[in-house]
Amino acid sequence: MQVILRQLGDCNIRRAEPTDLIPIMEINLKTLPEHYSDYFYESLLAEIPEAFIVAEIAGQNIGYIMCKTEYGFSNFKKLGFVKKGHVVSIAVLEEYRKKGIGQALVEESVNGIKLKKCDEFYLEVRCSNNDAVRLYEKLGFAIRQKLNTYYRDGEDAYLMAIELT
Ligand SMILES: CC(C)(COP(=O)(O)OP(=O)(O)OC[C@H]1O[C@@H](n2cnc3c(N)ncnc32)[C@H](O)[C@@H]1OP(=O)(O)O)[C@@H](O)C(=O)NCCC(=O)NCCS
Repeated sequence: MQVILRQLGDCNIRRAEPTDLIPIMEINLKTLPEHYSDYFYESLLAEIPEAFIVAEIAGQNIGYIMCKTEYGFSNFKKLGFVKKGHVVSIAVLEEYRKKGIGQALVEESVNGIKLKKCDEFYLEVRCSNNDAVRLYEKLGFAIRQKLNTYYRDGEDAYLMAIELT
């Protein structure tokens, strides 16, 4: 059964289902240089459907966010060991950007990650990706670290994180 989380005009924001995975992989291929195996998409959907969200217009997927959870050192507390949500990938097709869909995807993934009882939520973003950095800052994420040559092409990343508790 489809779980529709919210509607933005004609765009449904809902939890992903197995049949969404191929269209999501296609969006990923069109929009980002980081790609993943089919198995990785399937395992994220199986493990954390609460934070694997798609945006859909007239039956066509136009955006997604997928996340995982892990245990590790806090991005906020010295020596704290916490449960963290981690944004693996987010994208909206270019022609549908700047309509609030990216924001809705992040907000709904925050809700999903909270359901998994995570203490923090974090992500990596290219330092040059101003659109994404602005979006995350608007939603309360703060730059906590710079990760030198994080990406394969040598670009640096910002690690951005938000406390959920
Ligand atoms: C990052 C990304 C997901 C953002 O998606 P988006 O749907 O454009 O995000 P939003 O629409 O919520 O917000 C983007 C901007 O549109 C503005 N906006 C939102 N609704 C709007 C509307 N109805 N009219 C005009 N502007 C609007 C927002 O205020 C925001 O403005 P700002 O950049 O000046 O702060 C998208 O740019 C993308 O897919 N990029 C390529 C993949 C990528 O880089 N992913 C991130 C990897 S970490």
